[in-house]
Amino acid sequence: MNHISDFSIFNGANILITGGLGFIGSNLARRLANLGAYVTLVDSLIPEYGGNLFNIAGIEDWVRINISDVRDEHSMKYLIRDQNYLFNLAGQTSHLDSMADPFTDLEINSRAQLSILEACRKYNSGIKVVFASTRQIYGKPDYLPVDEKHLLRPVDVNGINKMAGEWYHILYNNVYGIRACALRLTNTYGPCMRIKDARQTFLGLWIKQLLQGQPIEIWGGDQMRDFTFVEDAVDAFLLAAEYDIANGQVLNLGGNQAISLKSLGELLIEINGSGKYVLKDFPHERRAIDIGDYYANADFARKVLGWEPTTSLRQGLFKTLIYYRENLEAYL
Ligand SMILES: NC(=O)c1ccc[n+]([C@@H]2O[C@H](COP(=O)([O-])OP(=O)(O)OC[C@H]3O[C@@H](n4cnc5c(N)ncnc54)[C@H](O)[C@@H]3O)[C@@H](O)[C@H]2O)c1
Repeated sequence: MNHISDFSIFNGANILITGGLGFIGSNLARRLANLGAYVTLVDSLIPEYGGNLFNIAGIEDWVRINISDVRDEHSMKYLIRDQNYLFNLAGQTSHLDSMADPFTDLEINSRAQLSILEACRKYNSGIKVVFASTRQIYGKPDYLPVDEKHLLRPVDVNGINKMAGEWYHILYNNVYGIRACALRLTNTYGPCMRIKDARQTFLGLWIKQLLQGQPIEIWGGDQMRDFTFVEDAVDAFLLAAEYDIANGQVLNLGGNQAISLKSLGELLIEINGSGKYVLKDFPHERRAIDIGDYYANADFARKVLGWEPTTSLRQGLFKTLIYYRENLEAYL
């Protein structure tokens, strides 16, 4: 099926985005504000996470911001009322942090998800929910590219909690008819990603290192990965919200090419016009939870949503570098 949408359905719609000051949430907010939606962003702005007020520069007068925590059931109960769509993106995203502090990850990625869905069930059962899940829940792939039929075998606490968060959404769709679906995101990159450290993604840290004239550190280097440019990911969120055929489904997002980390480093340096990399062994604590090679089979999202990632890796990295050249200070 090939859906071509102008997303006019979102004009005048009430939208809640959890994690709305984060990387993907803020890109989604920008798009929705431009489409004429009434957008409310919920974000706790926990410093170690990806939220940044600068992410919404230029649209701050067009969105409502509510600094609260999705673990606060009372706030969520209030915020969910009267919304047409919920884009549920708030999350603890660091795999290492989930091992160091498993209970915070559990509270945010699992328990809070259940309470958000309970709030939907009790106070707004007509809402449509799109949940940001992750490829991390597959663990080390048995085969490539990974499709949605692949066994789920998470290798870290974050993967287990995100898996539970995802399946609560599917359960509430199936049992209570709260329309919900989940997108299993692969490495997503682009303007507004966290570059301070590697908590969100190593690619953010590479960009910072490159722009500060430092060599980028590549661990291993042979691992294959795929990457979705954030605007393509935003398309997928909007399509998943619009089309009820996605209800109750989990859908992989992917990129349009798989690439080794070493080749990715080389490509980034080439696009930047200068830079160096050093190859290093994986630090022990990272190796223990690394998933090896991964790239997605996103045919199901293509078929169900008519989704197509249209930004090439080269174009996407180029746009990302330009953004951080202009705005580096706001992300350090
Ligand atoms: N970026 C990726 O490559 C990627 C890959 C797979 C899955 N995902 C998922 O997509 C979602 C968005 O990721 P992102 O890359 O934009 O990360 P991000 O860290 O930039 O955004 C998450 C936002 O959630 C907020 N948040 C965290 N805990 C919160 C809480 N308890 N209450 C309210 N707000 C809270 C953070 O402040 C942050 O702004 C996450 O759920 C993540 O698991 C992202």
